[in-house]
Amino acid sequence: MNKKIVAIVGSYRKGGTIDAAVEAILAGAREKGAKTHTLYLTEQHIEFCTNCRECGMKEGPERGKCQQNDDLEGILTEIEAADAVVLASPVNCGSVTAIFRRFMERLLGCFYWPWGQPAPKPRSKVHTLKSILVASSAMPGFMIPLFTGASTALRRAANILGAKPVGTLWIGLAGGEPDHQPSARTLRRARRMGMKLA
Ligand SMILES: Cc1cc2nc3c(=O)[nH]c(=O)nc-3n(C[C@H](O)[C@H](O)[C@H](O)COP(=O)(O)O)c2cc1C
Repeated sequence: MNKKIVAIVGSYRKGGTIDAAVEAILAGAREKGAKTHTLYLTEQHIEFCTNCRECGMKEGPERGKCQQNDDLEGILTEIEAADAVVLASPVNCGSVTAIFRRFMERLLGCFYWPWGQPAPKPRSKVHTLKSILVASSAMPGFMIPLFTGASTALRRAANILGAKPVGTLWIGLAGGEPDHQPSARTLRRARRMGMKLA
C-alpha cells in the first residue's frame, strides 16, 4: 500500500530554504509511490497552550484532547494516520522558530499529566512512525546540532509524536542572501532520504 507522509513546516517563508528541502524529500517519496502532504504552520490556526492541562488528565493510551477549537486536532489526526512525518524549521535565535515551538507546546495531550504528578508520563513508548528532521541556519550546517537547540527540539517533537528519526538534514549558510536555496547536492540528498521513507 502507498505510504502516507506528512511534512510540518515551521518556516515563515514559502519557497525558502526549508520549503525547498522539504519539497525535495517529499518529491523523492512520491517517486516511490508515496502520498505526501505539506502543512505550513503559518497557514494553520494553532492557538497557544494555556496550561489548562485538561488534555493530560485522563489516563490511558489515547491522546488527550485539547479544549481549544482550532486546527490542531486535525493535524494530529493526520500525523497519526501517516507512516512518516518530516519535521522542519529554520534556526531562529538559536532554536526552532516560535511558530514551531507553539505547535510543540500543544502536543501535551500525548502525555498523561494530572495535577499532583510532578512530571508528564508518555502514554506510549511505541514508535511506529518514521521521521526526518530538517533545520537550516546562517551558520554552517554541522554546527546546528552542536551549537543550537534546534536539533534537540526537533528530536523532542518527534519523540512526543511517537516518531523515530531515521534521517537528519542540517542545511547551513542559508542566511547570506534573500532567496537562498539548498545546493543541488543537498537537494539530491534530500530526495534520496525521501525515497527511503516511501
Ligand atoms: C529572527 C531570525 C533569527 C535567526 N537566528 C539565527 C540563529 O540564531 N542562528 C543562525 O545560524 N541563523 C539564524 N537565522 C537565519 C535563519 O536560520 C535562515 O535565514 C533560515 O534558515 C532560512 O530558512 P528559510 O528560507 O526557510 O526562511 C535567523 C533568522 C531570523 C529571521
